[in-house]
Amino acid sequence: MSELPIIAELEAKRAAARLGGGQARVDAQHARGKLTARERLDILLDADSFEELDMYVEHNCTDFGMAAVKVPGDGVVTGSGTINGRLVFVFSQDFTVFGGSLSERHAQKICKVMDMAMKVGAPVIGLNDSGGARIQEGVASLGGYAEVFQRNVLASGVIPQLSLVMGPCAGGAVYSPAMTDFIFMVKGTSYMFVTGPDVVKTVTNEIVSQEELGGATTHTTTSGVADVAFENEIEALLAARDFFDFLPESNRVEGPERPTADPWDREEPSLDTLIPANATQPYDMHELIRKTLDEGDFFEIQPAHAANIIVGFGRIEGRTVGIVANQPMVLAGVLDINASKKAGRFVRFCDAFGIPIVTFVDVPGFLPGVAQEHGGIIKHGAKLLFAYAEATVPKITIIARKAYGGAYDVMASKHLRGDLNYAWPTAEIAVMGAKGAVEIIFRSANGDEAQKAARIKEYEDRFANPFVAASKGFIDEVIMPHATRKRVALGLRKLRNKQLDNPWKKHDNIPL
Ligand code: HXC
Repeated sequence: MSELPIIAELEAKRAAARLGGGQARVDAQHARGKLTARERLDILLDADSFEELDMYVEHNCTDFGMAAVKVPGDGVVTGSGTINGRLVFVFSQDFTVFGGSLSERHAQKICKVMDMAMKVGAPVIGLNDSGGARIQEGVASLGGYAEVFQRNVLASGVIPQLSLVMGPCAGGAVYSPAMTDFIFMVKGTSYMFVTGPDVVKTVTNEIVSQEELGGATTHTTTSGVADVAFENEIEALLAARDFFDFLPESNRVEGPERPTADPWDREEPSLDTLIPANATQPYDMHELIRKTLDEGDFFEIQPAHAANIIVGFGRIEGRTVGIVANQPMVLAGVLDINASKKAGRFVRFCDAFGIPIVTFVDVPGFLPGVAQEHGGIIKHGAKLLFAYAEATVPKITIIARKAYGGAYDVMASKHLRGDLNYAWPTAEIAVMGAKGAVEIIFRSANGDEAQKAARIKEYEDRFANPFVAASKGFIDEVIMPHATRKRVALGLRKLRNKQLDNPWKKHDNIPL
């Protein structure tokens, strides 16, 4: 069809750009089990929705013979498309072109889509696969990174930003993903570190592989830098599509609504027996979460890091809610440094984007120990407290079992402007467990086991229930476990038009 020479020339230019670094490098990419930048976008975006920008941009470097090697697009594919019909801006680094390294022009392309996303109020998804700063360009490349960083910060809390790390991500390059809201990684082929294994060996004499130092498993279990690890790229990209459906386009608009066949008032009789008779016996909090949400659909964030707290997204009556829940199966559900950081950041994301927060509580307190104290549990625990206290989105709290000590206050209590604070009949709201309490307040009676047992019983009778808190108005209602979904749904309906503003300030000073 392209009879006119000018059309033929355009087609040829497009074809050259689409070939990236050439067939041999594309084959090498595939041989590593990785897709190309464009193949990834084909999976991420709705069919035929991608509109590319800046396809003909080339680098402007002349050093080290670079003037002779120019590849149209300069190692990053940028533009916009849709995911299930909603607009998203994307950039996808092309490892076949100079190893996806970031040049000044490459950075300008990323900045252009970020600026457009900010103007129109749409999320940005970055697919990262890069050898870092384009070494031949020196400081021009560093400047390019900083331009991207600056935009990450300005966009934070305005539009959702998601990073998919699908290859190397090293040096200062890790800081752009780190400032986005969520990071997905792929096992075996993606890694992130500030300095790689060779530098580590030189400086600290530690011998470590790339995978151990900064692979997907390391970052989603040990460091908590990344949120979810996937088996392969296709799984990660399809999950990103599902995940996107939970997010609003920006902080200016309401989130998406998905039709659901799940009745809002569905009762779950099995929840009436979820709490074991023995107060120290664990149960899986996921059961309560899934049975409350539409169709049991729950997208968990950081499932393998600080698993003593569960955070993630689900829907009630088709609208997104953020879930925060203590997990009695792991460390009895205590709050520790990692759990506080994990949940604090999640609460802040929900608050920034108008997503109501539903909190399920079963927490025996903060984790005691020298490591925790010396590690700064005071400051890190304060992050979650701070996040809940500043959040103005609808907050519904259900205490299923324990709510002890400072952790009772922290977990979206009435005192932190919880809108609806419910307790199950099995709730125990107290300063601490009965045994610990008796050992302190009746220390002089130590030794007399019968008396001690009687005191424990007395303390339990008084506090191992929700009614003392309810008599003070700290609990709005004691609800039947089987009616939890219904009560949460009704609560969210009531709170849909909630209006609450914090006092004006330039910004707060959350304990970092
Ligand atoms: C220019 C680069 C490059 C870079 C890779 N290439 N990294 N070109 N600048 N940073 C090119 C290679 O020359 C090669 O070109 C092609 O990409 C593929 O690279 P290979 O080394 O063959 O691939 P592989 O064996 O898979 O190794 C990938 C890699 C390695 C681990 C990423 O290339 C590497 O270590 N690169 C350098 C990483 C680095 O030190 N970057 C700077 C970090 S500092 P040909 O033509 O042969 O295909 C930094 C500062 C940012 O990023 C600061 C922000 C504040």
